Amino acid sequence: MERTLVLVKPDGVQRALIGEIVSRFERRGLRLVGMKFMQMTEDHAKEHYGEHKDKPFFGELVSFITSGPIVAMVWEGTEAIKRVRRMMGETKPMDSLPGTIRGDYGMDMGRNLVHGSDKPESAAREIRSFFADEELITWSRDTEKWIHDPFSL
Ligand code: RTP
Ligand code: MG
Repeated sequence: MERTLVLVKPDGVQRALIGEIVSRFERRGLRLVGMKFMQMTEDHAKEHYGEHKDKPFFGELVSFITSGPIVAMVWEGTEAIKRVRRMMGETKPMDSLPGTIRGDYGMDMGRNLVHGSDKPESAAREIRSFFADEELITWSRDTEKWIHDPFSL
């Protein structure tokens, strides 16, 4: 089991796509373990996107992600990091296949609706930076046996 951080960015919230985005992960069979509606501070945004701090688009990125409320979530499942990234599509909505979130709802790279952790180390760091331990709920789902095949690899 893996956990990953997902954000519905300010454009997704403004466009009333929170429910649509959440329902895709929910229906896929990922399990929600944490969720909050929040406004990111500039410091938090700079830390979150720290890997891009020397890129020319860093200022834009920070100002966009802090431009309105977002939804932060932690989803859990087998290979959750890769699964979520595939469901999101490519960074550029133009390169994203229909059926992905960015491919279905996105037009421009600076309005690509969602964030998902890109590797286990980022997921661990990002989850810690958005959620306190007690905000993450470990629970079991009664439908587990209909979602997971115990014999599959
Ligand atoms: P994210 O971190 O938001 O999930 O997106 P990502 O992994 O698909 O893309 P990443 O390379 O981490 O870039 C973070 C965000 O920065 C913006 N970006 N602009 N102008 C540019 O060349 C450029 N490159 C990236 C995008 O909004 C991207 O989501
Ligand atoms: Mg990224």
